[in-house]
Amino acid sequence: MPKINVLASAQKPARPDLAIVFCLEGQDLHGLPYCDSAVQAIARGEHFKGARDKSLYLPGPKRVLLYGLGKLEDLDIEVVRRGAGSVAKRARELKARRVALVLPGDGNKGASQVELAQAAAEGICLSLYKFERYKSKDPKADPKVEPSFDLILSAASRVLQAQAGVKEALVVCESVALVRDLVNTAPNDFHPQNAVIQARRVQKLGKRLRLKVLTVPRLKALGMGGILGVGQGSSRPPVLVHIHYKPARAKRVVALVGKGVTFDSGGLSIKVGSGMQDMKSDMAGGATVLATVLAASRLGLPIEIHAIAPFVENMPSGHAFRVDDVITFMNGKTAEIMNTDAEGRVILADALVYASRLKPDLIIDLATLTGAAIVALGMNITALMGDDKAIAKLKACGERCGESMWQLPLPKAYRSHIESRIADIKNTGNAGEAGTISAALFLKEFVDASIPWVHCDIAGPSYLKREDGVHPAGATGTPLRTLIEFLKS
Ligand code: BES
Ligand code: ZN
Ligand code: ZN
Repeated sequence: MPKINVLASAQKPARPDLAIVFCLEGQDLHGLPYCDSAVQAIARGEHFKGARDKSLYLPGPKRVLLYGLGKLEDLDIEVVRRGAGSVAKRARELKARRVALVLPGDGNKGASQVELAQAAAEGICLSLYKFERYKSKDPKADPKVEPSFDLILSAASRVLQAQAGVKEALVVCESVALVRDLVNTAPNDFHPQNAVIQARRVQKLGKRLRLKVLTVPRLKALGMGGILGVGQGSSRPPVLVHIHYKPARAKRVVALVGKGVTFDSGGLSIKVGSGMQDMKSDMAGGATVLATVLAASRLGLPIEIHAIAPFVENMPSGHAFRVDDVITFMNGKTAEIMNTDAEGRVILADALVYASRLKPDLIIDLATLTGAAIVALGMNITALMGDDKAIAKLKACGERCGESMWQLPLPKAYRSHIESRIADIKNTGNAGEAGTISAALFLKEFVDASIPWVHCDIAGPSYLKREDGVHPAGATGTPLRTLIEFLKS
């Protein structure tokens, strides 16, 4: 993680490598740190007015970058988060070591300088992330320069609080980076057995965490036919990982359940070439629940959390589960397999029964479950289904964190889509009709009806082909920050 400090403008470094000044549209630069009369004159000459995302770089001995945040009335934490992400990448390109970043005053949308500092720190950490595990190092290349940042506040009275906010942002962003690392890791390296190693690492890094690993004999004893069925085609046996965070004074208990398919080939219903690309990311939900419980424990949140993730590899082989198979789950329900590529719901069924038996106050599951979620909402919006109240809260947290979410309905009438002639249900809905909803209705069969439950389909936003805002191409770590915000509230 980059080093990030908070200073009052009176303590600002006199000669940073690069001074970045966030400017509001139409703002008078006079009086802003690092904006002497020469800088003001150039800005006037170049017609720099502080419009959103417009920037002006002044090279020379005192390197200054003016960066526009747009209008004060639109200034919220997401504007600053994205702006900080964008200037951080610029600072890296310019090979600056020590950067001073001048933040705006309080935002018109109620964002305080403290929140803006925290958001700036997030933007910096999220956008500077790089995944370089598989790049061989050029011994002749320049040693890497990673910039460090001093965030400059106008209100000296807010510095201490802002420092605490930045510290929290660093903890959360380290967990986001962990998700990204795990998801970006190639599936020959991240497989169910490696997931266990990673879970042990998480347990050691956190506080008050206990780890349970359920291997095949235990999965059999519990009757987890879904996890065993999907996992049986792979030479790597499936596991279920359960990390329990129990703080001293917990007010509530939440279970987080994540889909951990370490590679989704589709199984015997094999995916076509391009459809199989990036299917190493089908464990993003599982990685996210592990990293979320780690962040929650490091922040000492007063909420008990069960992070539960089945990890399996969905492969075709002579041992693989078949189309037409009937599987019996942990709660005794049966499902007819119509398509082995609809495997996520099959492993989550057992995990949701397991989570329900822990009697939490709320269950949230995260899953790269359906391509249909991408068709409905694209790459930037998580689909939410389930308990209306919890969804409203989660969605509001998502907005604050710059992670968009949108609710889809779970109409009773669509239950017919998963009716099977020979078993209790089947694992696909009607072709081409509301695939995200029928998948969620399948999951609903396995959640104790007395426990509020939210299903998050993250097939789109968890993994991007192209860089977008604070997310480099590849794994994003979405929606970990939203979950932490939610657990905090
Ligand atoms: N892991 C996929 C869903 C997915 C697709 C995630 C694209 C991310 C990007 C899931 O297991 C799957 O294959 N779902 C099928 C279900 C269908 C067979 C009912 C799908 O969406 O096509
Ligand atoms: Zn699949
Ligand atoms: Zn899948």
